[in-house]
Amino acid sequence: MAEVKAKNTGLQVDTLNLSDVVLPTISSEMTEAKYVLLQGQELNGQDKSDWTKIIQYAKDFLAYDYYLISSPMWNFTIPYQLKHYIDVIIQPGILFQFTANGVEGLAKNKKMFCITSRGSDYSVGTYLHQFDFQEPYLRAIFGMAGIVDITFLNAQPMDYTPEVAQLSMNKALEGTLSLAI
Ligand SMILES: Cc1cc2nc3c(=O)[nH]c(=O)nc-3n(C[C@H](O)[C@H](O)[C@H](O)COP(=O)(O)O)c2cc1C
Repeated sequence: MAEVKAKNTGLQVDTLNLSDVVLPTISSEMTEAKYVLLQGQELNGQDKSDWTKIIQYAKDFLAYDYYLISSPMWNFTIPYQLKHYIDVIIQPGILFQFTANGVEGLAKNKKMFCITSRGSDYSVGTYLHQFDFQEPYLRAIFGMAGIVDITFLNAQPMDYTPEVAQLSMNKALEGTLSLAI
């Protein structure tokens, strides 16, 4: 991040630590509220105020030009905290819309970087590659929202031995630096 900031003076960086933040719950009321809105009807009372909080997260996300997601692999995919965040922000009318031709992403002309760490190696050509549901999922969900310029840096394998982990980290950091420069 220091290299990126040095190269881009005036860059404003905001961080959201999903381990710390208490995101709005996607309750059955909120799921119903989503469909009420999709049918063009109004929300009232508690539903309206709860929905406003969800929508604010989606609007805040849309306001940025660049995104950097840093995530470990958990059980072949993303941790539940990141999934929860995605369930909150991916809202019709804000990040995508339905058209006569299908779904259109609304977060256009943006760039995303995803830095992941994995205990094992899921590189192309390995046996485990078929079980990498992390990178394909992130590409799919943010692609649906219109973010198609996504660069991945996967630090892997991180859990074999300390020496191997160091090599994996060095390789990933080299990639990070080349992205920043
Ligand atoms: C709940 C949990 C599930 C994990 N699942 C996987 C997995 O499916 N595949 C894998 O290669 N590593 C898995 N790991 C290992 C982590 O991805 C790995 O240790 C990673 O480097 C952790 O990154 P961090 O130190 O940034 O949290 C898992 C770790 C945890 C805690």
